[in-house]
Amino acid sequence: MRPVLPSVLSSQLSEFIAIRTGLYFPQERWADLERGVAAAAPDFNFQDLESCVHWLLSAPLTRHMTEILASHLSIGETYFFREQQNLDILGEQILMPLLQSRRQNERRLRIWSAGCSTGEEAYTLAILLDRLIPDLAAWNITILATDFNPKVLRKAAQGVYGEWSFRNAPVWLRQRYFTERDDGRYEIQPRIRKMVTFSYLNFVDDVYPSLSNNTSAMDVILCRNVLMYFTPQRARQVADNFYRALVAGGWLIVSPTETSNSLFSSFAPVTFPGAVLYRKRLATESGSRVGEPPQQQSFHDMGVAPPLPPVVRPEPVTEVAVTRMAPAESRPVSPPDEGERLSRMARSSANQGRLDEALDWCEKAIAADKLNPLYHYLGATILQEQGRHDIAIQWLMRALYLDPDFVLAHFGLGNLHQSLGRYQQARRYFGNVLTLLHLHLQDDILPEADGLTAGRLAEIVTSLLESLPELAETSV
Ligand SMILES: C[S@@+](CC[C@H](N)C(=O)[O-])C[C@H]1O[C@@H](n2cnc3c(N)ncnc32)[C@H](O)[C@@H]1O
Repeated sequence: MRPVLPSVLSSQLSEFIAIRTGLYFPQERWADLERGVAAAAPDFNFQDLESCVHWLLSAPLTRHMTEILASHLSIGETYFFREQQNLDILGEQILMPLLQSRRQNERRLRIWSAGCSTGEEAYTLAILLDRLIPDLAAWNITILATDFNPKVLRKAAQGVYGEWSFRNAPVWLRQRYFTERDDGRYEIQPRIRKMVTFSYLNFVDDVYPSLSNNTSAMDVILCRNVLMYFTPQRARQVADNFYRALVAGGWLIVSPTETSNSLFSSFAPVTFPGAVLYRKRLATESGSRVGEPPQQQSFHDMGVAPPLPPVVRPEPVTEVAVTRMAPAESRPVSPPDEGERLSRMARSSANQGRLDEALDWCEKAIAADKLNPLYHYLGATILQEQGRHDIAIQWLMRALYLDPDFVLAHFGLGNLHQSLGRYQQARRYFGNVLTLLHLHLQDDILPEADGLTAGRLAEIVTSLLESLPELAETSV
């Protein structure tokens, strides 16, 4: 197809798309850009491409509009066990030693498939872990999978695939992990499907890392075949956000064609036979910071992520039910900002992945100020990261008892019920969020939301409601 738009308009359109989605359409790809926007035009009720582009450039782009553009402009190509060498290194050199080091104390692991498309990568990770961990039920495993195209997220959550998704897969994959359906397609086993949480996240517009969307304290982030489509500036911002989303010693894995010392200069590049992976330095290691040239390290002299320093285990979490609180006069009086200080300690520990310690600080903050719903909410986000979903729900209920209009607590409950397969309850809490958000202005920054505005949360929740799978409810 030859470009039909005046070049000044193509140039404006390309810049606009880069700002809102990160996707890079230099002049040699303007024809692709036009083709994608022309395909999206009928969804915006336009028959004519040029009028549609003028309208796009003049109107504020809502989330819904971004989603339509995303589904026509982004490339969702993916399949099971893609880039096998990368995965072998992940399994043998990173996950096995990491699991070994955590087996005694903290049986938890957090992985993020960032730009997950239809879910093959995230399910590959779940299957990899299923094969590596014999006592899987004794571990808290988080596999977060995010994308900004709601169509691919819906397909991912269903977990049903055709032959093409298995084009590079080992033979045992379908036999062991899928059930063939009458229509000839293959459905992933429910227990593997439940290991993955799919969520909407736009790398350009959304806030991460954040406790509120479960994107902090990751051990491994896979962002493969995504940043190659981004402008260098956007790719750099995303890489820096990933750096902050990882625990010290955590790993970023990109596709072999995306490795770049300048783009990932905050990380230590670690050379494995046939691949370069990026590792966030431990606090004790000297090395380059953002913007400084990296020191090349090799697998042989660096090895794998050593275990994080041991943390002091707090007493088991005790119920601080508000109904059982001592009368005010008998409670020890703490200075007014003591709870705030303690909760900052909790956040700081949580952001570094020291979750037991974080929860300990959080309990101290609650002891200093029992009636502050924010501390109960913060505790719930930490419990969620630990995979203790049912207790996290109790803490969120307590936050709501103290402040029934606490939007983020309703949102957290929606997310937790969704990840537990309780879609009816998830719908109810997401519905509450939308109702409460009517009381806010679009640009209001919500408490405890790391800069998230009311308008943005409304868009996110609307999308989540649309992407909830129409699957049978699991037991409650
Ligand atoms: C080629 S797929 C990669 C899938 C998988 N990671 C793999 O390597 O097989 C790229 C994915 O990145 C997503 N993506 C592109 N831009 C994005 C953005 N700004 N925010 C979130 N996801 C984005 C696309 O929707 C698409 O699903």
